[in-house]
Amino acid sequence: MIWFSHATFVYRDVTALEDLTLHIAEGEFAGIIGPNGSGKTTFMKGILGLMAPVSGTLQVFDCDCTKMRCHHRARIGYLPQKALTDPYYPVTVQEVAMMGRYGSLGLFRRPSKADRVIVLESLDAVGMADAIGRPFGTLSGGQQQRVLIARAIAQRPEVLLLDEPTTGIDATAQHHLIDLILALRRSYHLTVLFCTHDINMISPLVDSLILLKTRLHAKGPPKEVLTREILSGVYGPEVALSTRETCPYVIVSDAH
Ligand SMILES: Nc1ncnc2c1ncn2[C@@H]1O[C@H](COP(=O)(O)OP(=O)(O)OP(=O)(O)O)[C@@H](O)[C@H]1O
Ligand SMILES: [Mg+2]
Repeated sequence: MIWFSHATFVYRDVTALEDLTLHIAEGEFAGIIGPNGSGKTTFMKGILGLMAPVSGTLQVFDCDCTKMRCHHRARIGYLPQKALTDPYYPVTVQEVAMMGRYGSLGLFRRPSKADRVIVLESLDAVGMADAIGRPFGTLSGGQQQRVLIARAIAQRPEVLLLDEPTTGIDATAQHHLIDLILALRRSYHLTVLFCTHDINMISPLVDSLILLKTRLHAKGPPKEVLTREILSGVYGPEVALSTRETCPYVIVSDAH
């Protein structure tokens, strides 16, 4: 579904990702890990068609990422790392979720009854239907994340990109959010890419881990990626690793 082939992404004078070659299959649940500045958000921007590789290629749905049109982008739901939300901007929960329909609505067409039904269903799926009329800025961080996931789901996407969705919310809300993502993945048969610094939270859940630090250091099932040799190549020699029944447990130094 998503193919990177020797793809290099640069910002003016910074190489964010270099010579990346990997494949993400339809239906795969992949965790994207790596320290700050390792290229995780850039990886997502590439898939969204917001940034083109300066060399190599990136194909999404059999389409070169430089040729992606609105109808391709509408198939990808995105939860950005930092949602730009002014708490005083007067926008309701329903209006935020409705933004997910704009890709298929096109410019200037007003939302139909069917769009409103999809938005209500999406808010219901994340447990936020009761808050439909509330100003978005008055919700807690975890509730806002849920509404933003509803916005992505309202798109009826095939791929869901989540950039650190659990950062900054309490442990209980994190667990609820993870359960929600797993449930949505099942109901909508989604391919999910989940960026996080919390390796131990994500590794028992995912099919694969993608370990980045400008280059691709590993991609594979968590048990194959979470080895001392591979992790110390990215995080340095101070890696603590203990083996649990299901998955290795790791402690790496990754200051925020
Ligand atoms: N808009 C930008 N302009 C210039 N350089 C950028 C820009 N965005 C990111 N970079 C640089 O590209 C590299 C990769 O950044 P990216 O945001 O992809 O990392 P990340 O893995 O998502 O980091 P974090 O864990 O902190 O979110 C970093 O060196 C960063 O400083
Ligand atoms: Mg990032």
